[in-house]
Amino acid sequence: MRLFGKRHRDLPLQPLHTPRLKAVPARDALDFAAAYAGAYDAEAMDWLGWFERPRPEVVQWLLEVTEHNRARRSRELPASLRSVRHWRRKDSAFFVLVDRAEGRCAGAVSVQVKDGEVGGWLAPRFRGVGLGTELFRAGADIAHEQLGMTTVRAGTQRSNTACRRALEAAGYEAAEGPSHHTLPDGRTVEACWYAHQAHRRAELQVEHL
Ligand SMILES: CC(C)(COP(=O)(O)OP(=O)(O)OC[C@H]1O[C@@H](n2cnc3c(N)ncnc32)[C@H](O)[C@@H]1OP(=O)(O)O)[C@@H](O)C(=O)NCCC(=O)NCCS
Repeated sequence: MRLFGKRHRDLPLQPLHTPRLKAVPARDALDFAAAYAGAYDAEAMDWLGWFERPRPEVVQWLLEVTEHNRARRSRELPASLRSVRHWRRKDSAFFVLVDRAEGRCAGAVSVQVKDGEVGGWLAPRFRGVGLGTELFRAGADIAHEQLGMTTVRAGTQRSNTACRRALEAAGYEAAEGPSHHTLPDGRTVEACWYAHQAHRRAELQVEHL
């Protein structure tokens, strides 16, 4: 995959901080597994349209991964989840979100290299306190600053108010896009689209000076 003359796999992705989160390029299978565990609850699976997940006790074990216990848990990771190839999408920059206060895995944000589409989620206990705004702002920063994209896109279900509000608070603006989207579980849902321009971030920073 080529992006502005560079190969995505050659891009040196860097960690970045938001006020309450650290976004870290996924380092190993445990990072992917712990991040995905944050979206295996019924609410997130409904929005994301996923239909497969590990057993509940495995999900719970993954939700308890922290920066402090990750070395040990990495060795104990079930064999079925241990292959990075199982998780990694070669045309996506995938960052695990770590809660800076407790070192817990709080969710994930990813950027599709082919079309600059940002997606992500928060683990249930990290929802409802404004971290979605930090998540989507981190996604825009990764795309603009690390992947060199001037425009970032995000699509969500029209009825996903939390996601739409978080995108808007992060500086994304309504954009054109397909009116419907088919989820991995086969449901076709009403979609709405947003875009974030590189200059919007600069303007917001200037406003704060
Ligand atoms: C989308 C997501 C990242 C947003 O996270 P969040 O910032 O914690 O979202 P919140 O619950 O704080 O909601 C954001 C805003 O929407 C409002 N909101 C949420 N649900 C609402 C509803 N049903 N009706 C009206 N307002 C609602 C909140 O009050 C909040 O308002 P504020 O900006 O004035 O504080 C998170 O909900 C999540 O991970 N969901 C599951 C997966 C998902 O939907 N991913 C996106 C798929 S495209």
